Amino acid sequence: MKGKAVLAFSGGLDTSVVIKYLQEKHNLDVVTITVDVGQGDDLKKISAKAKKLGVVRHYNVDARNEFVNDFIMPSIKANALYQKKYCLATALARPLIAQKVVEIAKKENAEALAHGCTGKGNDQVRFDVTMRSDSTLPIIAPIRDLNLTRDVELKFAKKHGIEIDTTAKRFSIDQNLWGRAIEGGDLEDAYAEPPEDAFIWVKTKNLPDKPQYMEIKFDKGVPVAADSKSLKPIELIEYVNKKAGASGIGIVDHIEDRVVGIKSREVYETPAALCLIEAHTDLEKMVLTKHELKFKAMVDSEWSWLAYSGLWQDPLKTDLDMFINASQKRVSGTVKLKMFKGSLRVVGRKSDYSLYSHDLATYGSGSTFDQTLAKGFVELWGLQSTEANKLLKKR
Ligand code: ARG
Repeated sequence: MKGKAVLAFSGGLDTSVVIKYLQEKHNLDVVTITVDVGQGDDLKKISAKAKKLGVVRHYNVDARNEFVNDFIMPSIKANALYQKKYCLATALARPLIAQKVVEIAKKENAEALAHGCTGKGNDQVRFDVTMRSDSTLPIIAPIRDLNLTRDVELKFAKKHGIEIDTTAKRFSIDQNLWGRAIEGGDLEDAYAEPPEDAFIWVKTKNLPDKPQYMEIKFDKGVPVAADSKSLKPIELIEYVNKKAGASGIGIVDHIEDRVVGIKSREVYETPAALCLIEAHTDLEKMVLTKHELKFKAMVDSEWSWLAYSGLWQDPLKTDLDMFINASQKRVSGTVKLKMFKGSLRVVGRKSDYSLYSHDLATYGSGSTFDQTLAKGFVELWGLQSTEANKLLKKR
């Protein structure tokens, strides 16, 4: 009897090629698993494709709730934008997919784990490191191991009768509930503007002539309602994605530092992530003390880096999660967003835990702030700077 390899299968070019390689070069039976993280693909079609490629079994695993509750929500609490731009959509899904592959491998008594990542990207790091946290089985990654390029893969696919859709020929796409990453093809020229037809979630033409408003309500750091409608996490993200995308919000285009040292030009569509993180960050500024904010910004940035670089399971990440969760006790309230022809702005916020006091801040009469107390404070605040400058002048 042949041994089995369990492969994370998306139905795309890379993983289709991998099935054939595992069968032909490694002489293994292949079990495929497609994890639904809200990519919106037709799972029936994917399982039919896997079967056509000769796999012995295919699993579809609906992990959307886990993805939202255990990965996306913590990232909102952490205001997670890697290098201030990327909402980590792909990065967050990978550890979850890897966990599911290991689960199936145990069930199937497999002798190897497999994925379709290249040796140039971050996903190999996320898959390998997460798989290693719970399995000692060998990890086979043919695209990386054989140093395959896209052209070679396309030829190989043709020879083996693997069907490839037309966008796969132009770009490499990875999408899930939290975002859509578009890479490769014409986008590899970092100066060339992305063609409009690269975008599906964000409208780029005929945008509404009137500003659109959206209210997001948070409870302990987690969004629970949009436009006064209480929504379950998945629906809420879908609602915000749709509404913001229709106003042209959500395109990110930046140069990103990959874990392996490469700088890459990355283009994303992430309307919900941009709106929810913008709103959450704004609300925190109203309810957290300046000391909390200063420290949390460092924690947030470290958290984003750990999630980006495949260290989801690292004890440090767990420790930071504890800090972040503790910090969210008062992060409840509502933020009002205004969207107009691709621009996004927070135009209002309110919270029962607000530290903003109109009576303290007002320049009008009725202020409760005693200005006369400020004189002594300012003198002490600047004491060392004043002394240092005096000494410099004496020289
Ligand atoms: N640069 C992003 C990341 O490392 C997105 C990768 C998307 N993958 C893809 N095959 N298009 O998370």
